[in-house]
Amino acid sequence: MACCHQYYDQTDGGETAFSVDVSSIAFGPGVLAEAGARARDLGIRRIALFTDRRLAALEPVTVARRSLAAAGIDVVVYDECRVEPTDESFRHATRFAVEARPDGYISVGGGSVMDTAKAANLYATYPADFLAYVNAPVGEGRAVPGPLKPHIACPTTCGTGSECTGIAVFDLLALQAKTGIASRRLRPSLALIDPMTTHTLPANVVACSAFDVLAHALESYTAMPYTRRQRPAHPNQRPMSQGANPWSDVGCREALRLVGRYMVRGVADANDREAREQLMWAATLAGTAFGNSGVHVPHGMGYAVAGLVKDYQPAGYPAEEPIVPHGMSVIVNAPAVFRATAHACPDRHLDGAGCLGADIRGAGEADAGEVLGARIVELMKATGIPNGIGGVGYGTGDIPALIEGTWPQQRLLKNAPMEIGRDHLHAMFEGALRYW
Ligand SMILES: [Fe+2]
Repeated sequence: MACCHQYYDQTDGGETAFSVDVSSIAFGPGVLAEAGARARDLGIRRIALFTDRRLAALEPVTVARRSLAAAGIDVVVYDECRVEPTDESFRHATRFAVEARPDGYISVGGGSVMDTAKAANLYATYPADFLAYVNAPVGEGRAVPGPLKPHIACPTTCGTGSECTGIAVFDLLALQAKTGIASRRLRPSLALIDPMTTHTLPANVVACSAFDVLAHALESYTAMPYTRRQRPAHPNQRPMSQGANPWSDVGCREALRLVGRYMVRGVADANDREAREQLMWAATLAGTAFGNSGVHVPHGMGYAVAGLVKDYQPAGYPAEEPIVPHGMSVIVNAPAVFRATAHACPDRHLDGAGCLGADIRGAGEADAGEVLGARIVELMKATGIPNGIGGVGYGTGDIPALIEGTWPQQRLLKNAPMEIGRDHLHAMFEGALRYW
């Protein structure tokens, strides 16, 4: 079967255009010290600095605060962002934002911190029932009414790409499932990406972050092409998850090349600054790509794997409660998913494997899924990632609950290159139980 990504094969009523929305970006060692001058340029006089308790005393927050203070900006700190935020923690942060009345936000931390700042900015600016803006079918999926206050996002891990996207992900406690809020209005005004923040990250945090990047890039690259989506009645109804497109393809391929080349080095050696900085750049590229195309099944399944966690506690993360870190929860599904989706667009699966460093000489279309799956498994083994969903505590008996946890992620499942039913998810979770 030929690849489905022939963008110029347009269909009746199908989309004919794609959009590119990107945050302003400043990238480079030391760029965090620009926070004050940048905030002033955005007209901010009183800024809410979002971070978490662990980071609050560390260098990146100190550098940002010093720079903001030197620029004469009034700083109010919220250091209670939760790793893996929930609707409850988003509400807590919103109450802070309402009381603090900032005219701008700066988030210094990982995806959880940046997403919390996005949500607090949204609900403090346009108060509504919590589920109003949450993605349908879990929430109402209501459009954000207007622009938010300026937000400077400063990532301290090399993974989520949240600094470049209009997505905020959280656990909805009542459903024990991850979902999110997605709107172009949520995209930070500016991303200050300082690779020096990655120099002190624990190995396992780098591994999970780098696999999140890998998944963003591979899922975007193999997503349903934008031309296969129905053309919306109005251009502003074009979703951010618009499917694979020529813009996202560029960032995805380069991000895969960098991850394939630098992941193992960046995990193994904290002093390998070249590797960690290149992983940070890969995260940025993948973030600007998937922010305009969307991810698909591995992330959809990952939300269930993380949301239903039993007692798994990884090294390098706060030990207060069980957690399957985001990148890990996604990648444990990925080889099984790509083995199953490869037939829909074999040349992209094969090309993705090649970008990641697999030897694809002599491989044909029928081998695409296996070659890509094997390369991901090779990288998982080399960086200490658990052996499939079995490695983070799940067994065959958990598969029905995992499927039910994944099913509400229709926005992601519909972005896959093939139609995904419950039976497909069953086979994919079964295939993900163990890889070696
Ligand atoms: Fe992700």
